[in-house]
Amino acid sequence: MNHGWLEKNSFFMLIGIILVVAVGGAVEIAPLFWVHGTVEKIDGMRPYTPLELKGRNIYVREGCYTCHSQQVRTLRDEVERYGHYSLAAESMYDHPFQWGSGRTGPDLARVGGKYSDEWHRAHLVDPRSVVPESIMPPYKFLFSKALDYRDVGQMLTANRMVGVPYSEDQITRAKEDLEAQTDPNSEGADDFRKRYAKADVRDFDGEPSRITEGDALIAYMQMLGTLVDFKTYRAQAPEHRR
Ligand code: HEC
Repeated sequence: MNHGWLEKNSFFMLIGIILVVAVGGAVEIAPLFWVHGTVEKIDGMRPYTPLELKGRNIYVREGCYTCHSQQVRTLRDEVERYGHYSLAAESMYDHPFQWGSGRTGPDLARVGGKYSDEWHRAHLVDPRSVVPESIMPPYKFLFSKALDYRDVGQMLTANRMVGVPYSEDQITRAKEDLEAQTDPNSEGADDFRKRYAKADVRDFDGEPSRITEGDALIAYMQMLGTLVDFKTYRAQAPEHRR
C-alpha cells in the first residue's frame, strides 16, 4: 500500500488529516442547523418554572443522572413499563438534556404524578423505608437545607440565551414565582398559574414555613413527563411523507 509514502511526507499527511477531520466535523455539525425542523411542535410544552429549574439543578448537582435515565425508548418493553416513548420536544428546554445512559435505577422521564409528595419525601430521606431492596443513597440533607434562589432570575436569563422562550415578565418575577409555587394561598399564586400552565402549586416538602432544596427537587420530579397530554397526542408524519 502507498500510505508509507504519505506517512513520511508530513505536509501531505497534514493535508490528509485536515480533510478527514473536516468531513467528520461536517457530518457531526451540519444536522444541528436543521434541528429546529426535526423537533415537532407539541401542545403543552412550556419552560420550567423557577422552582422546577432549581430542582433540576439539584438533580444535576447530586448526579441523579448517573443512575437514572430520562428517555423512554420506542421499544415495547419500555413503553409498557414507563408509558409513551419520549418525544424530542419533551427535552427541548433542557440545557443540558438528562437523557443519561445508565439505568441503575428506573427511567424517570415519566415519574411525575406516579407517587405522592410524601412518598418522594420518605424515599429521598431513606429509600429503604419505602423500597426495602433499594440501593439508592439517601438524600436526607435536602430537607434541612434552605433553597438558595437568589440567582434564579439569572438562571432564567441564561436559559433564554440558549433559546428557552422565557418572557420578560417571567424573568423579572422569577423569585416571586418561585415562592408562589410553594404556597397556594399567597398573593402571587394566581399570577404564577397564568405564567406557567399546568404547574403544581403546593408545599412539596411537608414543611410550609420554609422553602428547602427538597421542595425544588420534588416539584421537578412531579412535573417530569406530565406536560404533553398523550390522550390527545397524535404523532405527525414528517413533511416529505405526508
Ligand atoms: C446509586 C444509584 C442511584 C442514585 C445516585 C440515585 N438513585 Fe434513584 N433509584 C436508584 C434505584 C436502584 C432505584 C430503584 C429502587 C427504589 O425505588 O429506591 C431508584 C429509584 C428512584 C425513584 C423511584 C422511581 C420509580 O419509578 O419507582 C426516584 C423518583 C428516584 N430514584 C429519584 C432519584 C433522585 C432524585 C436522585 C438524586 C437526588 C437519585 N434517584 C439518585 C438508584 C439511584
